[in-house]
Amino acid sequence: MILVTGGAGFIGSNFVLDWLAHCDEPVVNLDKLTYAGNLANLHSVADNPSHIFVRGDIGDSGLVNGLLAQHRPRAIINFAAESHVDRSIHGPSDFIQTNIVCTFNLLESVRAYHAGLDEQGKLALRFLHVSTDEVYGSLGKQDPAFNERNQYAPNSPYSASKAASDHLVRAYHHTYGLPVLTTNCSNNYGPYHFPEKLIPLVIRNALAGKSLPVYGDGQQIRDWLYVVDHCRAIRAVLDAGRPGETYNVGGNNEKRNIEVVRTICALLDAYAPKASGSYADQIEFVKDRPGHDVRYAIDATKIQAELGWFPQESFDSGIDKTVRWYLDNQQWVEQVADGSYREWIDSNYKERQ
Ligand code: NAD
Ligand code: TYD
Repeated sequence: MILVTGGAGFIGSNFVLDWLAHCDEPVVNLDKLTYAGNLANLHSVADNPSHIFVRGDIGDSGLVNGLLAQHRPRAIINFAAESHVDRSIHGPSDFIQTNIVCTFNLLESVRAYHAGLDEQGKLALRFLHVSTDEVYGSLGKQDPAFNERNQYAPNSPYSASKAASDHLVRAYHHTYGLPVLTTNCSNNYGPYHFPEKLIPLVIRNALAGKSLPVYGDGQQIRDWLYVVDHCRAIRAVLDAGRPGETYNVGGNNEKRNIEVVRTICALLDAYAPKASGSYADQIEFVKDRPGHDVRYAIDATKIQAELGWFPQESFDSGIDKTVRWYLDNQQWVEQVADGSYREWIDSNYKERQ
């Protein structure tokens, strides 16, 4: 039995689906169902007896202590977080609460659970914390990619809150001997990606005939990883990662934002052509994100050498799958893009005109 937190969000739900496709070890899935969590992502496992969904907050110690006592998981995998940089700029408070305070509460619950296990249980337990490459800050165009020894230098309230949680996780290993693992992954994309983030937002806006907002000059670089490759990396770290260690995970797919947007437009032109013109005609350069990180890039040598993990998708194959998934699942997109989503889009993009 494993306990997954945030398993109704983008990466968490992909992880749960991937896990249940590979084994029948049950998953308890604890998720608060914020705007970013959607049970529709888990529709295909709704009747699977190996998937136990619990709506709740990782910061609710009573609830979490009860779940740990009842299910006795051998591993806790923490995806739960506030995850959108632009939202963290508009309102950092939820990020401090969930990513720092609630993660601290979760660590306290797991520390107490670990202390109560027998020696064998203590040795077997893992707390895997899913983090981001954004904790390392921003690279210059010529800098070497981030490795695990890079100094943390977070620049947004989101990345600062994730950095704080990474430090707490590290401290719980160093001080209390909690068997923790941390993964720092680059930008993910794929099915069930909430349409506030660049790739699904561009697909949705393109099909709706709306403008495709590119921040600043569109020259910022992200290192894109197909979400299922990230899920495989997490399973590899859980299986054979060394407690106390961190593992950088990346796709070796550095792309400029404008390149990503143009690639999506070209795929849509091929799969869902407009009556006239290209989707690229809808591209609009808008006011930049404050403090916009210029470049992220991951050196994944450690996880490759120690755990034999390599991404299976190239950017070309992954983005093709992703665009086709969104074309086939437009109902899912409209279902998650509810009233609060529309309010967010209005407030984030109105000020960029
Ligand atoms: P997401 O925003 O899509 O999903 C987050 C999930 O956590 C949602 O289901 C939400 O309901 C849940 N949640 C939020 N607060 C909670 C709380 N207090 N208690 C319980 N559940 C709560 O995020 P994502 O993109 O799937 O990211 C998952 C994790 O991976 C995050 O920790 C993020 O920092 C990290 N990460 C994301 C990326 C990326 O590109 N998306 C890359 C690297 C790392
Ligand atoms: P995003 O998907 O929000 O991920 P992150 O900020 O965590 O990297 O954004 C990816 C890149 O795309 C980032 O450089 C900001 C840029 N971007 C746009 O140009 N336009 C948009 O509407 C959004 C949401 C992002």
